[in-house]
Amino acid sequence: MKRRTFLLGTGALTGMGLVTASERWHSKQTSVSAVPLTRNFTVSGKQTLRQRAVAKGLLYGAALQSKQVETDAAFAKAIAQECNIIVPESELKWRVVRPSPSVYHFAPADKLLSFANAHNIKMRGHTLVWHEDLPSWVNSSLNSLNAKQILTDHISTVVKHYAGKMHSWDVVNEAIEPKDGRSDGLRNSPWLMMLGPEYIDLAFRVAAASDPKALLTYNDFGMDYDTPFGRKKRMLVLNLLRQLKANGTPIHALGIQAHLHRDNPEFNPESFGTFLQEVADLGLKILITELDVTEKKLPIDAKLRDRTIAAAYEDYLTVALAQPAVIAVLTWGLSDRYTWLSTAEPRPDGSPVRPLPLDAQMNRKLVWNAIARSLDKTTQRSMLP
Ligand code: G3I
Repeated sequence: MKRRTFLLGTGALTGMGLVTASERWHSKQTSVSAVPLTRNFTVSGKQTLRQRAVAKGLLYGAALQSKQVETDAAFAKAIAQECNIIVPESELKWRVVRPSPSVYHFAPADKLLSFANAHNIKMRGHTLVWHEDLPSWVNSSLNSLNAKQILTDHISTVVKHYAGKMHSWDVVNEAIEPKDGRSDGLRNSPWLMMLGPEYIDLAFRVAAASDPKALLTYNDFGMDYDTPFGRKKRMLVLNLLRQLKANGTPIHALGIQAHLHRDNPEFNPESFGTFLQEVADLGLKILITELDVTEKKLPIDAKLRDRTIAAAYEDYLTVALAQPAVIAVLTWGLSDRYTWLSTAEPRPDGSPVRPLPLDAQMNRKLVWNAIARSLDKTTQRSMLP
């Protein structure tokens, strides 16, 4: 059923309701797909997102930083109330956890694990192999002779430190980059250049040997929309997953980052649902790992933005959670007080971005309602993952 889209040029909202048009309306600024005023985001009951997730055998959580829970009691309380899984935003990246070849700095991530344990929250690790946020010593000393040992030592040391305590690991992050032009779509990362495509299988095997209990995940972005890039990314990620499975690589899940943007009309529920099913057909679980919405081009009116952002969340999660293989949803942050989008995607009008379930004062927003509604209407999973 084709969803009618009510379109709104900036400032075209009238007292009579939305100025509606069936065709796409391009204003001078940016036309955005605003949701009909009739769309409701009401939520029944007083349960938290954590309670709603648990009731369906799911995990809901957020990315955060250790300093945030250490210094911000209101934020720490909100995390404990709303989340049953967390992921360190930076503490397990090479730059933080391995500042020099022989030094491992676990204290910041250990603090987050203690916080998680104190509140009966699971923790997932992010990320063991990435091309970004590498300490300078890696870029200056990595070569084809030492790369395998450096990578193997890193993964085994870090994963063994948390063995039995980590729900899952993003073992390899963002290894697919169609723009790099390889037929296999692999990104020309330092790891690929030094070790060849085999680095991915190696990473998963070392991680599995280091913690047989952890759910080992391949994590990536750009699979959400029916754009030419999105379709190509989905195809290349599926090819990689099929190859790894055929190779016997110990991979258990796909992490879909889900950094959404406001052009929701490009979101095609049918094709996204088909993609999720193709992943599930490989016997893999699916985690939505970094959900948020870039909204810098939406009108400044906070109420209108909140509705448009909430609709993007609910449209997306309705499809995602309809797939039984989806076991977890994490937003990349819980409160607008702490979001990477403030610096990465600031609004041209200078107003604070509003991408997350709680506002900067820890009040629930319509995004919170959208997630709650999505959890409430999905099917019960057999057991908590
Ligand atoms: O902690 C240092 C601080 O001591 C220093 O003063 C400051 C200025 O240099 O930098 C601080 O580190 C920053 C770190 O975030 C912690 O805030 C790094 O510079 C900055 O590069 C880092 O950015 C993170 C980025 O990944 C790179 O690791 C973002 O917060 C984080 O949201 C972002 O998350 C990524 C996921 O890992 C992968 N998927 C995409 C997502 C968004 O880019």
